[in-house]
Parts: sequence; structure tokens; C-alpha cells
Amino acid sequence: MRNTALLLGAITALLIACGNSEADSRASLAPAEGGAPKGEQLFRMHCVLCHGSTGKLGFNGAKDLTLSVLSRAEMITRVSEGKGTMQPYKQMLTPKEIEAVVDHVRALAVKP
Ligand code: HEC
Repeated sequence: MRNTALLLGAITALLIACGNSEADSRASLAPAEGGAPKGEQLFRMHCVLCHGSTGKLGFNGAKDLTLSVLSRAEMITRVSEGKGTMQPYKQMLTPKEIEAVVDHVRALAVKP
């Protein structure tokens, strides 16, 4: 029954890995220049709750990101400092991660 125990251990580890820790470790393992995929990953983790995967959700008074008129620099500030019900992300994400997630947000606007 040793194999069963090992298997259970592996499954447990997998389940744990599917929680936040997986995304965290993947984010930190991703190469720094992996902007787009990493940004998408971070967006899924931190932003979809209010903005939705398309950026249009508008939950909690969130703005439709595809209609945003903010510049890239302004978005970086908005994400870093937060506004209204949106919390500041500068404690949670590194400057590079904020740039990556903002680039993802900007890419959402050009998709139909
Ligand atoms: C708790 C809900 C919530 C979460 C989570 C959230 N936002 Fe927001 N977001 C908002 C709200 C509400 C606003 C509108 C703030 C305002 O202008 O009053 C907003 C505004 C923005 C804006 C500015 C849009 C504009 O044109 O003014 C950007 C960019 C943005 N969010 C990006 C993000 C990113 C990137 C993340 C993830 C790192 C994120 N948001 C997570 C609620 C949220």
C-alpha cells in the first residue's frame, strides 16, 4: 500500500499547487521578459474578480478596461496606488509584474 500513499501524497500536493501557491511560484519562475503570458496570469489571479477576463465585467463599480482612456503610465499608477474599491497593488506585485498586467489590460482593449 506504499504506492497508494505516495499517490495520495502526489494528489494532495497537486491540489495544494492548484491554489494560490501555484500561480505565485509560476509567476516568480516565469522569465522576466515573458510579459504577455505572465500578465495574463496575474490578471486572472488579481483582477478578473472585478474586471472579468475580458476586462468588461464592471463588478463592484469597476470600470470597463477596454474603454479606458488612461495612458500606460497612468494605468501603472492606478494599479500601484489603487482607487475607490480597487486596492493598491504595489505591496502585492513587483513593478515588473504591474507592468506585465497593465500590458495585458491594454491588449484586452484591442481585441474585439
Ligand atoms: C475589488 C475590485 C477590483 C479589483 C480586484 C481590481 N480592480 Fe481595477 N478597478 C476597480 C474599480 C472600482 C475601478 C474604478 C476606480 C475609480 O475610478 O473610481 C477600477 C479601475 C481600474 C483601472 C482604471 C480604468 C480607468 O480607465 O479609469 C485600471 C487600469 C484597473 N482597474 C486595472 C486593474 C488591474 C490590472 C487589476 C488587477 C491587478 C485590478 N484592476 C483589480 C475595481 C477593481
